[in-house]
Amino acid sequence: MLTIEKLKLDYGKFRMNIEDLSFGKGLHAVLGPNGSGKSSLMRAILGYSDDSIKMRDIYYRGSKVGTTHQFLSYLPQDSPVFRITADEYINMTADHQNEDLYQSLIETFELENFTDRTIEVLSGGEFKRVQCAQIAMEQKNIMMLDEVEQGLDLKYQHQILKWMKAEADKKTIIANMHDAALAMTYADTVTMIKDGRVIASGIGPDRVTSEMLSDCYSIPLTIERRKDSFVVFHNTL
Ligand SMILES: Nc1ncnc2c1ncn2[C@@H]1O[C@H](COP(=O)(O)OP(=O)(O)O)[C@@H](O)[C@H]1O
Ligand SMILES: [Mg+2]
Repeated sequence: MLTIEKLKLDYGKFRMNIEDLSFGKGLHAVLGPNGSGKSSLMRAILGYSDDSIKMRDIYYRGSKVGTTHQFLSYLPQDSPVFRITADEYINMTADHQNEDLYQSLIETFELENFTDRTIEVLSGGEFKRVQCAQIAMEQKNIMMLDEVEQGLDLKYQHQILKWMKAEADKKTIIANMHDAALAMTYADTVTMIKDGRVIASGIGPDRVTSEMLSDCYSIPLTIERRKDSFVVFHNTL
């Protein structure tokens, strides 16, 4: 469970002010137009600011029990690449080695063929799958993934969303996403952010209306429900 209370952010032209936002166990999609504050929200939760990285202290029943990085895994929107093998990258931030978990992640993300390649040479989608394995190796209870579907082909978009949904049985997973249809198909809740404000807070995908989505993105959109999925159309196309 992650509860955010009285979170304030002030970049001058851009401000965010969140009174109260909670994410329980499950997969939670965060939607919003470019520049609405999705990445800033994740960075603020972690305690990152523009010129420093300062992990937030976490308190339980009045006592400090650690800092955010001990409880949260974070997959940023963009990550620097350097000369290190995919295998080393996957294990880089794990507190404990776990060979069984490692092997299962290699299978889940189909990484067998490039564990010994340096991450510099991987395609965008291959690197994204390596990053998913890396944060899964951390075995934290909360995972925040910023635009995880970016760079993934259709097969891996669904494969990774399925993996996130399975992990969300026992974890809190928050995913900033652009593909609203994919988000509504897989997520347990949808949160919408616009201009630094939460305009829909953790509602079930069934409750997201075409009007709400159109308002969020400032374009006319229609949502249609299929058997097990949602599709989103731009009205004027
Ligand atoms: N360190 C910063 N200093 C000043 N403005 C920033 C900084 N980080 C983000 N912003 C601004 O805050 C707004 C929200 O950015 P961001 O959270 O990255 O949006 P999103 O992830 O929803 O596309 C944007 O207008 C962006 O330019
Ligand atoms: Mg962003």
